[in-house]
Amino acid sequence: MSGADLVVDALQKADIRGWLDVVWHFDDATHQHCLLVAGLAAGFAQQLGLSEPDCRQLTQAALLHDLGKSRIPLAILNKPSRLDANEIAVMRTHPVIGHEMLRNGDFSDTMLAVVRSHHEALDGSGYPDNLRADRIPDIVRLVTVCDVFGALIERRPYRRPLAGNEAYEILRSMDGKIDIDLVRAFQPLAEAAGTVADAA
Ligand SMILES: [Fe+2]
Ligand SMILES: [Fe+2]
Repeated sequence: MSGADLVVDALQKADIRGWLDVVWHFDDATHQHCLLVAGLAAGFAQQLGLSEPDCRQLTQAALLHDLGKSRIPLAILNKPSRLDANEIAVMRTHPVIGHEMLRNGDFSDTMLAVVRSHHEALDGSGYPDNLRADRIPDIVRLVTVCDVFGALIERRPYRRPLAGNEAYEILRSMDGKIDIDLVRAFQPLAEAAGTVADAA
């Protein structure tokens, strides 16, 4: 199954599609971001040779990782300039909100961990739970790499989209916070994304 097929497959699951539609109706840019991160995660899962169930689970989790942003005021979510301290605090509630939205549904603990913990850092400096490396599961680390990279190659109101190789250098500079072995394994995808960005 190709990366694109994995995303299409995940979108055909009614509960995934339903929650992603909540994001779509709220904010198109966040919806696009979720699709991008899911595409990256699907490609990454396959490159790493994960089993098909793991590929599916990772793709589904990536699609909904930012569900909680559908409850963040748009004035903060799409603010065209730097967020102030209060706004950052509000923005940083999105993993817990997303987790709350899904926790009573029929989702695996792995899926819920991705939604809640994708902004954790290996050195414990992330949020919302200041988890350290030994508490951050591999699937969460995978999504974090794809999420950071995806955000960098996207166009934002306040900056141009970075080319894949520029975004990759930033990922590499985050050694100690994100899993650098995974970052190394991600390089071929980063290069492929660079080609897309250059052509656009
Ligand atoms: Fe997020
Ligand atoms: Fe994200």
